[in-house]
Order: sequence, then C-alpha cells, then structure tokens
Amino acid sequence: MAESDVRLGLVGLGTIGTGVVQLLREHGESIAERLGFALRLVRIADIDLVRDRSVPLEGIELSTAWQDVTGDTGVDVVIELVGGRGVARSIVLGAIEAGKPLVTANKALLAHHGREVFRAAEERGTEIAFEASVGGTIPVLRALREGLCADRIESVWGIVNGTCNFILTEMEEGGEPYEACLKRAQDQGYAEPDPTFDVDGTDSAHKLAILVGLAFGVEVGPEAIHTEGIERITPVDIEYARRFGFRVKLLAIAKSQDGAVEAHVHPTMIPGESVLGRVTGSMNAVEIRGRMSGPTLYYGAGAGALPTASAVVADVMELARSLRTGATGRVPPLGTPRLRPVSVRRVEDLEGHYYVRVTALDRPGVLSRITGALGARGISIESVLQLGRSVSQAVPVVLTTHVAKDEALRAALREIDSLGDVTGPTQLIRIEREI
Ligand code: HSE
Repeated sequence: MAESDVRLGLVGLGTIGTGVVQLLREHGESIAERLGFALRLVRIADIDLVRDRSVPLEGIELSTAWQDVTGDTGVDVVIELVGGRGVARSIVLGAIEAGKPLVTANKALLAHHGREVFRAAEERGTEIAFEASVGGTIPVLRALREGLCADRIESVWGIVNGTCNFILTEMEEGGEPYEACLKRAQDQGYAEPDPTFDVDGTDSAHKLAILVGLAFGVEVGPEAIHTEGIERITPVDIEYARRFGFRVKLLAIAKSQDGAVEAHVHPTMIPGESVLGRVTGSMNAVEIRGRMSGPTLYYGAGAGALPTASAVVADVMELARSLRTGATGRVPPLGTPRLRPVSVRRVEDLEGHYYVRVTALDRPGVLSRITGALGARGISIESVLQLGRSVSQAVPVVLTTHVAKDEALRAALREIDSLGDVTGPTQLIRIEREI
C-alpha cells in the first residue's frame, strides 16, 4: 500500500455495502487513475459476518463491532451504510468524534438529526457527504450544492421513491389493486419486507427535507412536511386519471416564493405525457426550477446496490481528495454554513386543482347535493364524470375542481361524506398541471 493511498472503513455490509465492495474491486484501478492515489477498503464491520455476499473480502479486516472501524487509526474515511436512526447515529457521531470524514446514505438520520450531525462535523473540522441519501445514483444533491449554487431555486419536485413508483406503474399497466402490486414489488426485491416507510411517504419526506435544505437554505424537519402515502390509491382512481389525461405519482414537492416555503408529499395527478408522468417502474426523477437557470431535470435509478454504490464511492472520492489536498470544508455539506429557520406553509392554506371521487347511490338529486356542498364553500367544478349506472349499488361520481383552497375542500368533503347517499369515504387527490 502506498503512503498516499486513502484507507476506507465500511460499517454495514448489506445490499449497498456489498455494492460498494464490488464497485471498488471492479473500478479500483480507474478510480486510482482519476484520483492519482488509490482507495483501499481495509476494514468492514457488520453484525452478520456469516452470510455469503458473493463478493471477495480477502485482505479486509472484518469485525462485528462498528467501534472497530471508527476507532481504527488506520482508517482515513468511514462509510456508514447501516441506515435508520438508532445505532447509525452513534456510528456517525463516533466517526466525526474520531475526526474521520464520513460518507452516509442515511436520509432518515440526516432528516431527523441533521442539525446535530452537521454541527458536530463543523466543530470537529471534518467532512460529511451524503449524495446517495436522495435519488440513489442521481447526483441531484451535488447539482444543488455546486452546479446551481449561483441561482435562486424556486421549486424542487419529483419522484424520489422507486418502490412507490414501481407499484403505481404496475397498477396502471395491469389494472391490479395496490396489494397485489405491493406483493410483486416485494417479490422482485424493490420493497422491503416491511414496506411501511416507502408506501406511507415517510422515505420521500426524509428525502424532501434534505432537498429543501440544499435548495432553499432553510431547515425543515420531516414533521413539518405534510405526508400522505399511496396505500389508498385504487385502480379506479388510476383509470379516471387516465381518462382525464393524467397519471398518479407519489410526488415530493417543495416551493419557495417570497420567503414562504411549502413542502409536501402525496399522490398527485400530473399530465400523463409530462416528463415526470413518463417516469415509470422503480426510476426516480427530480425537477429543479431556478430563477435564472429555469428547469433542469435529473433522472436515474433511485435504488439498487450498484447505482447507489456509485454515488457512495463518488462521495468517498470527494472526501479523499479533500484529505489529500487539505482543502477540507471547501463547500459546506448543505451548500451554506447555516440553514435559516423557516415556518412551512400550512397545507390547509395551499390552493390547487383537485380530483374528487365520491362513492354514492345513483339517486335523483345526489349530484346536486354533492356540488351544493362544494359550491357553498366557493369551490368551482371543472368537470364531472359518472360512468355506468346502478340504481341499487353505489357508483363513483368523479369531479375535478378549478383552483380551490385545501381547507375549504376538506370541509366540503366532511359534509359530502355525511350525506345519506354517500356510502364510503371520498377520495381526494391533488392535481399539478404545471409539472
Ligand atoms: N427504498 C427507497 C426506494 C430506496 O424505494 O426508492 C432507498 O432510498
């Protein structure tokens, strides 16, 4: 090993960790050519050292204790790929405490404990990089942090959860219910055995919290992000969306206008032929709009061992270069030394177009009672669609609205759901036409 080589310690030999080992094995020489020195993976810690990962591990010291990595004076850069907010927090703070530059893909940790982690790194004078935490392989954080840093960002939105996009695409293409498509996502390895954080929008909210910090320079915790998942989307909604020319996507949306910030995650109907509308399967895509730059689009694999490993090792290369050149802290991790506090706009105050699906008995006057509840709150209807007729059974009555206030719409839905003709909870999905 040459003296200039940078020695790496990895904590977490799961899917992405194994991808990192494989990538370093296969691309070690070309990476060394680019850097002018080599990256050497010298230590790995994982609680399970028995399972066969099908990657060669010879020459690497293995242990089950993460402290063996963070405490090893022979490790120059630590990679944390454990995930979650439990032991990962100790590993990250432990590496920083030891003065080691750190690479992580941990969006939950950064979204919830970012302030603590970034402050600790700043005080210790060490660096932290986390490109793989949002959008897997897509260099969207780097774009915000460096490529677009001269601009004022007005909006960031996108599809940042591949599991949800896979499920919604399957529902659209096969007309199958949510549960069957979730099962397929699990069988094909997209969704975790416990898919809760993916499908309920939590994972997207964590990623949006990170994007908002980099885009607008403000601190927004995931608890301030209104979050809805895809569990309540039905094939009926997807079919009506198609008839209106839309597709349903789980979108993470953030906008900044005159100092007011909005940030929300929810199923959204967007034009089917828009760029984001055509992002299918497990792919991710993020669109950023800057005051000067206009729209720029970032598309690619949001998950998977090797795509994510590519982002992780790119971060390692950046930190290794800083170490070797002594240029630590050239760009702060969030693009600014300090995030400003901000209060996020209440989702109830937001305005937009909506899709409303009421399940009602097809009796004379039912439509006027539904539209009456909307009209009484100043909500104007754009279109109404009722397909089929059944005197004895409930049928979907679908409306789209002109621009309406969220709060007024929810009040109208409470009244609609209490009508005797209405047999089930009304479905509400936001429409974004400008995407
Ligand atoms: N579980 C995430 C997804 C990938 O399905 O997109 C990791 O962030």
